[in-house]
Amino acid sequence: MALLHHELTVALADGHEAVIRTARPGDARPLVRLLDVIAAESRVTLLMLPGQIPAREWRRRIAAAAERDTSLFLCAWAGDRLVGNLGISADAHPASAHVRVLGMSVARDSRSLGVGGALLDTAIAWATEQGAEKVELSVFAHNTPAIGFYERHGFVREGLRRRQFVRAGEYHDEVLMARFLAPES
Ligand SMILES: CC(C)(COP(=O)(O)OP(=O)(O)OC[C@H]1O[C@@H](n2cnc3c(N)ncnc32)[C@H](O)[C@@H]1OP(=O)(O)O)[C@@H](O)C(=O)NCCC(=O)NCCS
Repeated sequence: MALLHHELTVALADGHEAVIRTARPGDARPLVRLLDVIAAESRVTLLMLPGQIPAREWRRRIAAAAERDTSLFLCAWAGDRLVGNLGISADAHPASAHVRVLGMSVARDSRSLGVGGALLDTAIAWATEQGAEKVELSVFAHNTPAIGFYERHGFVREGLRRRQFVRAGEYHDEVLMARFLAPES
């Protein structure tokens, strides 16, 4: 069962705090609200379309992550508001069992405050402690803020898949990024 051992409280750049903790079934509806709004932003950053992933699917994903040693689903709360989420799980193929795949997002008005960095640092520390060797992710090629964010967190570009996705009738290129984890000393 992959759960964060404790909640983390982080100080944000605006003077407020965020709590980072393992997602719970009751987070499903707030996740729908958070991600539907992000999915509707004019700059496309998520594969999903607004309204595409219902609360029951988030409940299933939260439960699935809790059942597996190799998956973690994190939420970031600022007071009573869900402001970010991160999912990390083992690559599906046994030959890639040393690899973890990550996806994340932060509410627009909570960006550049340190929420994303705190979520990512927490996931990287958890994956390192687990003995994972590599964390990979996929980002739209036009999502330069996210690519810069990941680069500043030690990720490097590993590849480009052109016209990999069609979302709402539009083609998007995909950048593959990865970070190798330092073995525990
Ligand atoms: C990419 C994303 C997850 C980053 O999350 P975030 O909460 O904005 O990340 P942070 O606040 O930790 O860092 C962002 C910037 O804020 C600034 N910042 C962070 N903490 C700060 C602090 N305490 N004081 C001042 N500035 C700070 C940093 O300059 C940082 O710059 P960088 O992005 O160039 O590294 C977020 O922009 C997002 O959700 N975007 C939309 C969805 C998306 O693109 N998801 C990724 C799909 S692959």
